[in-house]
Amino acid sequence: ADGDAAAGAKVFKKCAACHTATEDKNKIGPTLMGIVGRPVASIEGFKYSDAMKKHAEEVPTWTEEALYTYLHDPKGVAKGTKMIFVGLKKDQDVNDVIAYLKDPSAA
Ligand code: HEM
Repeated sequence: ADGDAAAGAKVFKKCAACHTATEDKNKIGPTLMGIVGRPVASIEGFKYSDAMKKHAEEVPTWTEEALYTYLHDPKGVAKGTKMIFVGLKKDQDVNDVIAYLKDPSAA
């Protein structure tokens, strides 16, 4: 989509308590390094919820479209997820954060 990575870096502050996008390191949530195109629930050693493992069977890959839907409404998309986050309301914020996640070095 038409996201802006620099704007997305600012949106990512809402995620940064729980995720890094630039290090191979899990926090409360799994690393988001390389998340665009990555298989769902695939970080070795991260303890995903049963809800996220089930989501992986339905939607195997974090495509931009899958991220778009999930980030608008995490709990609606992966019912029972342990990601405690209401989601992003604005379409532009979602597109921007996806652009950032695709290429953090562009921010
Ligand atoms: C999982 C993105 C905010 C905690 C995930 C996943 C993505 C994601 C794509 C799935 C990762 C995978 O399949 O490996 C984001 C983005 C955020 C955000 C872009 C901000 C817009 C947060 C916040 C928290 C959090 C604020 C903590 C309060 C988690 C946890 C999981 C997760 C615990 C694992 C979920 C489960 O196993 O059910 N996040 N997240 N995230 N996130 Fe976030």
